[in-house]
Amino acid sequence: MKKLLITGASGFLGGRAAAMLADRFEISAPRHGEMDITDRDGVRRFFEAVRPDLVLHCAAMSDVGKCAREPERSQRINVDGSVNVAAAAHESGAKCLLCSSDQVYAGTGGIAAHREDEDVTPAPLYGKEKLTAERKCLAVNPDCVMMRLTWMYDVQTVVPGEKSDFFRGLLARMTSGERLRFSVHDRRGLTYVGDVVENFVPAFSIPGGVYNFGSPNIPAAGGPIGRTMAETVQAAFAIAGLDPDRIACDGESYRDSPRNLCMDSAKLNAVGIRFPETAERIGELLKAAGGMLP
Ligand SMILES: NC(=O)c1ccc[n+]([C@@H]2O[C@H](COP(=O)([O-])OP(=O)(O)OC[C@H]3O[C@@H](n4cnc5c(N)ncnc54)[C@H](OP(=O)(O)O)[C@@H]3O)[C@@H](O)[C@H]2O)c1
Repeated sequence: MKKLLITGASGFLGGRAAAMLADRFEISAPRHGEMDITDRDGVRRFFEAVRPDLVLHCAAMSDVGKCAREPERSQRINVDGSVNVAAAAHESGAKCLLCSSDQVYAGTGGIAAHREDEDVTPAPLYGKEKLTAERKCLAVNPDCVMMRLTWMYDVQTVVPGEKSDFFRGLLARMTSGERLRFSVHDRRGLTYVGDVVENFVPAFSIPGGVYNFGSPNIPAAGGPIGRTMAETVQAAFAIAGLDPDRIACDGESYRDSPRNLCMDSAKLNAVGIRFPETAERIGELLKAAGGMLP
């Protein structure tokens, strides 16, 4: 069995990856206290002790607002820490996947799905840090895979202390009878975390570089134009056999600066990796949640 080192395994993505991949890899999942990614020598020592074949780097400061409030610390974790991991993987000959974000596209605008080779000017500090990390990691380790992830959701898992996400938040709002309003000025893909983790496995075999790594958000007959959040949830409801008219349009959020984080999947598809379309997958999962829906 290949040895897989996962950083950030006490977090949302790393924890699920460690659990879901445990039967396919020999996993080493150091806690923050055992391997602080900002300690370059400590990271090297850990790699020398474990000698991983593969690395999945999920450790980060992932909260966009917290990065803005703590710019020096977030730079150390999201940029310098990622470079330490990418460099240690290169030195030890381990294939390395690192988590970037669709927030690199925040501020770039438009309504068409973004491609990896576009010029981007991320507005949030978190997006800027992720873009810098992509460039610096690839400079020290050209074979590493930088995955631009969308906002991810789980379905019904309850992890004590974990903040909610899109899907679990939607179920909670449906249950409480809260009005369901979604923006008509916000376009983004949303990805089921189980699909992300399954696609890590083939990603260990793809060439180094930057990849959009998540569900596209494009109606089948709509060309490369991403759905708004309101359209996404309406389409998902229709697929699940729920009444799409329950979804109200929120014309206020993002009105003054519309957001478009939708990602084009062509580069990832060309190396044989596919994600289901955003609304279709949410619709399927809502349908599967069936009986528990109000
Ligand atoms: N969740 C999403 O929807 C989403 C979307 C796009 C991109 N991403 C990216 O995907 C990756 C995983 O996200 P996530 O949601 O799983 O994040 P998360 O839940 O916030 O987990 C972050 C993990 O990083 C660890 N960590 C933080 N600083 C560290 C350090 N200096 N050394 C070692 N470990 C450290 C944390 O451990 P402690 O808590 O013990 O510090 C925690 O285990 C991140 O790169 C994130 O930016 C996530």
